[in-house]
This record gives sequence, structure tokens and C-alpha cells, in this order.
Amino acid sequence: MSDTPQTPNDLNAYWMPFTANRQFKANPRLLVAAKDMHYTSHDGRQVLDGTAGLWCCNAGHGRAPIVEAIQKQAAEMDYAPPFQMAHPAAFELANRLAEIAPPDLNHVFFTNSGSESVDSAMKIALAYHRANGQSSRTKFIGREKGYHGVGFGGISVGGLGNNKKQFASLLPGVDHLPFFYDRGKQGFSKGEPTTGAEAADALENLVALHDASTIAAVIVEPMVGSAGVYITPTGYLQKLRDICDKHGILLIFDEVITGFGRLGAPFAATKYGVQPDLITTAKGLNSGTVPMGAVLVHDRIHDTVVNAGPENIIELFHGYTYSAHPVAVAAALATLKLYKDEALFERANTLAPYWQDAIHGLKGAPHVIDIRNSGLVGGIELEPRPGKPTARAYDVFVKSYDKGLLIRTTGDTIALSPPLIIEKDQIDQIFDILRSVLSGVD
Ligand SMILES: Cc1ncc(COP(=O)(O)O)c(C=O)c1O
Repeated sequence: MSDTPQTPNDLNAYWMPFTANRQFKANPRLLVAAKDMHYTSHDGRQVLDGTAGLWCCNAGHGRAPIVEAIQKQAAEMDYAPPFQMAHPAAFELANRLAEIAPPDLNHVFFTNSGSESVDSAMKIALAYHRANGQSSRTKFIGREKGYHGVGFGGISVGGLGNNKKQFASLLPGVDHLPFFYDRGKQGFSKGEPTTGAEAADALENLVALHDASTIAAVIVEPMVGSAGVYITPTGYLQKLRDICDKHGILLIFDEVITGFGRLGAPFAATKYGVQPDLITTAKGLNSGTVPMGAVLVHDRIHDTVVNAGPENIIELFHGYTYSAHPVAVAAALATLKLYKDEALFERANTLAPYWQDAIHGLKGAPHVIDIRNSGLVGGIELEPRPGKPTARAYDVFVKSYDKGLLIRTTGDTIALSPPLIIEKDQIDQIFDILRSVLSGVD
């Protein structure tokens, strides 16, 4: 960190994503350095990271083995084309991922983001059915409140109106499951709610409506992240699996947030013991250090597509210039090793009860109408100000930042997802700051 505050001379040119640009630029919050559990703000303050950046820096910030791997790879080979060419570490990473993936998901398609992983998984699902002689299966089922990134595929299957309304017509042939959340029954559940699994039965209605022969895949987040941290009721995912099996429909888990330890296991699929056909990942894959995503693919799907035509023909007309980028791969290999060496997924699982007690300690704090948690993730829902949704949560966000805590708010919910290296006293600090901020906002 330099001694002088770092402020750019002009904030205008950068059109910031998912940001109220005018509001932000009137009072900018700039981060200039990061180490372990803390950011350094441009005015030189230490800010505790309650969000792992944006649900991604699971190993914490500035971790030496990852930094060194990135530096070494950038110096050794900056780039290698991924079409009809490859570099050895890409194969190594695919193998390491297959080792921690649920059984039979032994093939990996590399992307550069969660959005690209989602669109890739959707295309792979379509290609599979076509290769399997079922090319009438073209429709997708998402779920209300689902967030699957910002590609046209992802916003189509996604269930957030704000992310769709500016962008005219989306993918045809998409329908949505109803949301499973009922605050009256599930409010203040500790961990997975025990009611609500029956919401998955609505998939049977959609199958009856569209006919199974037209449906390619169902895509859901095994924990609803971006829409406000809603933990899936016990039994819900297995019900989806059973109905998909019954009708030959693929099941895609979007694990862009839940992958790599967030729920105290490598994947939510592992934690809940439910086997999807495809898993989309990004974020924690290399702890947010270099843009990267990956789709984990069931052997049956891979083999069907890859063995469908003659050997000299490209099997899947899909890929990215930066698929398996050497620097991203090096970062991911170092990150997976760090997760293993420091047993960070297990650590998240061990800390989860402490986290649960701490977050539920906010029950009764001003404005709090629900608290949700699993692993090292938490959502604290606030009563919205009458006629001004999101305003109260935004004030909490700004005031927390001023007090040295980075949180994320989505709607009127505070979403927390700290790096998995967090210590107990830092967990206490998060909730002490939040308690005092909540008492101070109207
Ligand atoms: C479940 C899920 N899918 C997809 C995405 C999109 O990822 P990206 O922003 O890397 O495109 C996100 C991002 O938060 C996500 O939470």
C-alpha cells in the first residue's frame, strides 16, 4: 500500500457492472490491496472481507502459493491456443477436478466465468440429446429467483425479472419452477429448512405441460445465492433428481457459488448426496484470482457427444479463446492444492456451527425478519423501508464498509460468504459490526 490515498483522476469512462454508476461515483469505494482476510481501501483502512470478494476468494487474498504459481506461469508461457492444441497443465487440472467431483463427473470443459459455464452446460445438454437421437429435447426448466449469470442462456433460465426486462426476447422454450421459500414456515431455519421439499413436485406439472420429450434439462442453484441466500429444503434436490430420472431429463447444478467449499464440502452435490449430470463452476475454482470457469460433465454425456461422429470431426462446436488459459490453470492448480493442504473445505464444515450460532445471534436485532445459513454462507433479511425496497440494506452496506466490514446486499438481504480461512474472532467481528450498524439505521 502506498502512503498517499489512491484516487483516479476521473471516474467517468469506466461503466461499472451491476452498479448504480452515478450514486457510486458521487461517493466511490475503491479497494487497492488485499491480504488474507482483509482489503485495504483507497483511504488506507483495513476492511474485513465478509464476502470473499464476490463469493470467490475462498482461500483468502494474496495467498503466496497462488501468487507464485501465477507469476511463474506468466513468465514461462503466457498463452497457448486451446483449439486443436493444448498445454499439459490443462489436463492435470481436469484430472484434479475429476478427483473432487461427484462420481462419474470425470470430464471438464473450461470456460472463463460462471455465465460462460452456464451457457456451455446448456449447449452440452442440447448436443447430448441430439447425439443420443432425442433432438426434440430442446427446452430448459429454470426456477424463479434463479441466477445463472448474464449470457442470454443464463438470463433466460434465470428467474430474476430485473436481469431480463431490458433485453427483449430471450431463449424460447424456457419455463420455470416456482420458488420453494415460505418465510412463515422456513423463517429462521438453522441450516437446511425441513419443510418445502414438495415445491420440487411442480416439475411434474411442467413435464405434463411441455411433455418430457421436449425438455433437455433442469438447471438450479443447489443454494440460491445471488437472489438472497435461500437454503434448499432437505429432500428438494433429490426429488428433482428422481423426477428428472423418470423422464430422461438432465439435471444441471449451478455450483458457481456453492462449489469449492462454501457449504463445507467440495460441492453442494457432495454435501447433499445428490448426483447431477452437469455442474457449472467458476469463482472458487482458482479463488477468484484469474477469470476461469469449468463445467463438470458426466461420463455418459461426454462419451455420447464425443463418440457420435467420425474421429477427424470436431465433436462440439463450442469453446473460448481463453478456455484453459495457462495462467488461470496454474492459479487453479495452486488453489486446489492449497484447499487440500489446509483442508479448507473441512475447515468450513468445522466452523459452520460457530458461524450458525453467530449469525442467528442477530435474531431480534432491529429490522431483521429472517436469517438463513449453511456451511460458511449466510443471509440476513431486513424488513424493507415502506415504498423504498433495498434502501435500508444499502445503508447497512455503506455503514458497514465505513466501519471496516465488506458485506454484500441483494434486495433487502445481507449476504455473507467469508473466505474459508476466517477465524472465530473475525466471525465475531462481523456480527458485532452488523449489530451496531443495524441499531443505527432507521
Ligand atoms: C449461481 C451462479 N451462476 C452463474 C454466475 C455468473 O458468474 P459470472 O459472474 O462469473 O459470469 C453466478 C455469479 O454470481 C452465480 O452465482
